Amino acid sequence: MKESTSQYYRCPATGAALELVVERSQDGVVESGTFQSKAGSSVFPIQHGIPDFTWPKELAEEDRETRDSYESIAEDYDNYASLPFLTYRCSEAEMRERMVDQLELEPNSRVLEIGCGTGRGALHLAKRLGPSGELFLQELTPLLLDKAIEKLSNLDMLVEFSIANGSYLPFQDNFFDAAHHFGGINTFADIPRCLSELARVVKPGGKVVVGDESLGPWLADTEFGRVMSNSNPLLKCEVPLASLPVTARDVRVEWIVMGAFYTIEFRVAEGPPDADYHLQIPSERGGSHWTRYYGQLEGVTDETKALAHKARKVANQSMHDWLEAVVRDAAKRQLSD
Ligand SMILES: C[S@@+](CC[C@H](N)C(=O)[O-])C[C@H]1O[C@@H](n2cnc3c(N)ncnc32)[C@H](O)[C@@H]1O
Repeated sequence: MKESTSQYYRCPATGAALELVVERSQDGVVESGTFQSKAGSSVFPIQHGIPDFTWPKELAEEDRETRDSYESIAEDYDNYASLPFLTYRCSEAEMRERMVDQLELEPNSRVLEIGCGTGRGALHLAKRLGPSGELFLQELTPLLLDKAIEKLSNLDMLVEFSIANGSYLPFQDNFFDAAHHFGGINTFADIPRCLSELARVVKPGGKVVVGDESLGPWLADTEFGRVMSNSNPLLKCEVPLASLPVTARDVRVEWIVMGAFYTIEFRVAEGPPDADYHLQIPSERGGSHWTRYYGQLEGVTDETKALAHKARKVANQSMHDWLEAVVRDAAKRQLSD
């Protein structure tokens, strides 16, 4: 890692600033050392030039098992990676270019890819960036990241590699122009946290594009669906729409690769969705969204309800205005007695 980028990193556990302690470096490139939190409670090693921000140190069982299984096939991973595309007779390059299009990158964008594997997608990201672009590539499985480093370390732009859990990102808020992941999130131990983290580190207005296996629901009861789900049970995973953060806007879901994979694309907003809750709604019922939700007092009998409706009609008021006046007057009178 370049020493000049050390300021970019934050503790994946707390978000606190980290101090770089260099053991060995050459020409501004840190070969070994540590990142430490100021309190010294968390230490993240840098070995062979790659910081390891894996958090929690004791990974959740699902993440540990996933990492172990990818470690065991890392040498052959690239020989197998094109199998899904061959199976579905789809072009891997076309699919990846399409996802990169969705990220709306500029040549000088700062982009994050988590779970980048051996760098198959990162090659497409890099093509869209110029010399002032910045590409941050993260992986949970060190042996896969080694393959990405072989493919991508000699590019004419800043490319920074690190080991990290996609659900605990070692970056400050609003740091990237866009973030991407493809192919692994279905098995992440904490999918909602990963999606929230991606939204947290992307600047408001920036795009997040995530994809993985999930058979289109209309295909579940077809020969195609049954045969392919039998070979790959991950096709039964659901699209994690309910796990999106509240800052997600302009959400789009697509099923690609013959309907066997989904992509979710969203734009990051500054906060939760908002509305004019107090807008007065012109109708017999009257009131606002706010009074309708928060202003309810208690139910009354059918007879009282019918009388109230009659009375508000005679008064030529909306139910909200009539009730507001009647209840307020009655309460005031009661309180002054
Ligand atoms: C099928 S591979 C896809 C690799 C790459 N994104 C691609 O498109 O070729 C899934 C990747 O997700 C990574 N992964 C799994 N769990 C992860 C986690 N919790 N955080 C980050 N990466 C993870 C795996 O190590 C693996 O490289």
